[in-house]
Amino acid sequence: MVVLGIETSCDETGIAIYHPLKGLMAHVLHSQVAIHEGYGGVVPELASRDHVQRMIPLTRRVLADSGLQMRDIGGIAYTAGPGLIGALMVGAGYARSLAFALNIPAVAVHHMEGHLLAPMLEADVPDFPFLALLVSGGHTLLAEVREVGDYRILGESLDDAVGEAFDKTAKLLGLGYPGGPRLAQLASEGRADGLRFPRPMTDRPGLDFSFSGLKTHALVTLGQRERLGVSEADIAAAFQQAVVDTLVIKSRRALEQTGLRRLVVAGGVSANLVLRTALQALAAQTGSRVYFPRSEFCTDNGAMIAYAGCLRLMAGERVSQEVVCRARWPIDSLRPPGSS
Ligand code: KG4
Ligand code: ZN
Repeated sequence: MVVLGIETSCDETGIAIYHPLKGLMAHVLHSQVAIHEGYGGVVPELASRDHVQRMIPLTRRVLADSGLQMRDIGGIAYTAGPGLIGALMVGAGYARSLAFALNIPAVAVHHMEGHLLAPMLEADVPDFPFLALLVSGGHTLLAEVREVGDYRILGESLDDAVGEAFDKTAKLLGLGYPGGPRLAQLASEGRADGLRFPRPMTDRPGLDFSFSGLKTHALVTLGQRERLGVSEADIAAAFQQAVVDTLVIKSRRALEQTGLRRLVVAGGVSANLVLRTALQALAAQTGSRVYFPRSEFCTDNGAMIAYAGCLRLMAGERVSQEVVCRARWPIDSLRPPGSS
């Protein structure tokens, strides 16, 4: 079944077509950075309005790019949560209406399951079971993945998600929105070793995270910048190194605890090159293998939704005609495709 995937959970409109045998046939993405930049963050109402405007032209483009017609589409997958409720409703309403008009099935996809399965779009696919480290703007978690839809959460952030900590710290440093990639860029010009940032919650057992203290530490350090003789780039580098070390320490612990030897890393922050290098080194030290999506599929995109939706549609899953979206939706409440 050829599947049209639709992602509108936040500030990117992503549309893609996935073919179960031919793989990803086309994908397009429209970023709303220019709309939200002046506000220093995503304005939910503006995000919803822009999704409305982009959906039809992007669908036309993805069809043209793939050489397919609307009648070739066999099913529609859309992000139903977690995310901004208005933005989700735009995508869900469009997807359901299109499916109804074409008389084809639709399925609701969990955004984080989409992220988690994004490495499956690459040639080198990890086998199950594996350990997953999900690091995005809204989530930070370690999970044991026994199969698609069977997720046991081992640890998660008790406060800010790691991407959120990047974004807030970037704002403190005057870098604006989107913060994560800008902070990473600034960090590459600084030195991480002159400042000692904490590695939160690593001195006690367990796999939970806490990142809000690092942001506060960055703020305090910024106030003492001249006395300490450090630059903003040094602060960015020390912050980033503290985040990366913390994620590596907890990932190592989770690999040891579970005995798993495959680590899948996904979500927007998995685009971070310092994190990627550190996790590659961890894999080498522990005799494990680490898998990442290609960098354009680390952040939000339609391809991961088309792929995850294709698995669920092929297993016979369908949504009812009622359009239901969820701002919050625990990933461990999911079940394997076709079993619910
Ligand atoms: O997965 P994603 O696109 O959206 C959510 O589901 O949240 O993740 C976006 C997050 C943002 O917080 C962004 O700042 C962060 O990922 N991010 C990065 C990098 N690229 C994106 N953080 C650090 N370094 C990067 N290179
Ligand atoms: Zn995301």
